[in-house]
Amino acid sequence: MKDEGNNIHSVFDELIQKPEKEAFLKQRGKVVWMTGLSGSGKTTLAKHLERQLLEKGYFSKLLDGDNVRAGLNKGLGFSEEDRQENIRRIAEVSKLFSDGGVICINCFVSPTQGIRNMARDIIGADDFLEVYINTPLEECEKRDVKGLYKKARAGEIKDFTGISAPFEAPNAPSIEIKTKDKTIQASGDELFEKLLPFIRIS
Ligand code: ADX
Repeated sequence: MKDEGNNIHSVFDELIQKPEKEAFLKQRGKVVWMTGLSGSGKTTLAKHLERQLLEKGYFSKLLDGDNVRAGLNKGLGFSEEDRQENIRRIAEVSKLFSDGGVICINCFVSPTQGIRNMARDIIGADDFLEVYINTPLEECEKRDVKGLYKKARAGEIKDFTGISAPFEAPNAPSIEIKTKDKTIQASGDELFEKLLPFIRIS
């Protein structure tokens, strides 16, 4: 866009920038990227986290595979290509939230390091917190909250993460929560405590 005085302007230059929003919200805008197997507890812990954050005065938005795939990403399946596109769109949306100073809590299997690196590159390394919800496959399969492992074992669901499609655990996550033999409350509190230093404005 060219204005009368010959200065080149972009409408983006006129938007209120992130630091001002962060100062207003008294928090850092970050993307809390939770990765882990289906049934590992990502969404359960994210809900717990969202509640705790709200009670302590932090503003967040939770996105998860089941709700995003029912709307924005309707029609995408679980092939490698579709998972890439799923995560690419989610990363772009998350960036809009974190740029607005919001803490965006994401719960997506995001099974490979490559797919998570793509998300990190879109969001920006400074704002991307990789959180590994570490629950062993045996435990997720034992819980089988949605009955999907049983179906995957029976060959009724193809490309199922951990059974017939890969899951690569993060090498160096910003935060790791081992959920086995812990209550939801204990894992949730641990997540909240570990996250605080990243979102607090000192
Ligand atoms: S991702 O791999 O593209 O990141 P996403 O988190 O959006 O996956 O969706 C995972 C959720 O979809 C699981 O929690 C499960 O409920 C459901 N699901 C259905 N089919 C599959 C599959 N083949 N692999 C993994 N999850 C599946």
